[in-house]
Amino acid sequence: MALLSVQGIHTAYDRVNVLHDVSLDVEPGKITCILGSNGSGKTTLIRSILGLTPPNQGDIVFEGASLVRLPTHEIIARGIACIPEGRRIFPKMTVEENLRTGAYRLSDSAEITRRAMQVYELFPRLKERRTQLAGTMSGGEQAMVSMGRGLMGKPKMLIIDEPSLGLSPLYVKENFRIIREINGMGITVLLVEQNVRQTLVIAHHGYVLSQGRMAASGTTEELSADAEVQAAYFG
Ligand SMILES: Nc1ncnc2c1ncn2[C@@H]1O[C@H](COP(=O)(O)OP(=O)(O)OP(=O)(O)O)[C@@H](O)[C@H]1O
Ligand SMILES: [Mg+2]
Repeated sequence: MALLSVQGIHTAYDRVNVLHDVSLDVEPGKITCILGSNGSGKTTLIRSILGLTPPNQGDIVFEGASLVRLPTHEIIARGIACIPEGRRIFPKMTVEENLRTGAYRLSDSAEITRRAMQVYELFPRLKERRTQLAGTMSGGEQAMVSMGRGLMGKPKMLIIDEPSLGLSPLYVKENFRIIREINGMGITVLLVEQNVRQTLVIAHHGYVLSQGRMAASGTTEELSADAEVQAAYFG
């Protein structure tokens, strides 16, 4: 059974319909990717899952229960974390304070510290810089802060919206390595990316959104061989 199943959703901003009959399944323990050009509706799909812009038709089912009409904090409490587009760290807070905001639902301070230690193991750079203001970190380091904050809530599923955007090639490579490592810890990943080549290397399954509709889906091997995907992304 899928961990997350999006079933025929339609989502609109005001009266402009953006997603048309979109369905997808995220298998537990896997990395599922969503590809698609600018404006194809990838972030809107994430906003729909998180209840920020709820769909007006269709259903979204997580662990067998519908998320539609639940408030966002309740959806997050079910075990979904999101690293948003642009990362949105708190620039005037230290690295460690940023991480702690990711565990806001927890009151056990020993457990919070334990989780921060796990994040520091994954990102030694953050440990070195735990007292530095996050806004003064490099873009790649801020990406680590954002990823670490997402992990502090111990999610079952982590949704990541375009983590490579604006990063230098070295950090992009590092980011993909870390995503794979996070998945290796047993966390299911839903990854939105425009860096198609590297995404198809680490993901198991994928979907292609085009103008708000699902244009293709399959294993990453199938997508890599798909003529339309080839034409759209590999010229
Ligand atoms: N708050 C909003 N109000 C009205 N229209 C919006 C809003 N947010 C997005 N849209 C529109 O919805 C469509 C899909 O946008 P969305 O942000 O989901 O695309 P995307 O695939 O994430 O693009 P990108 O790769 O550039 O991030 C676009 O046409 C966009 O202009
Ligand atoms: Mg987007």
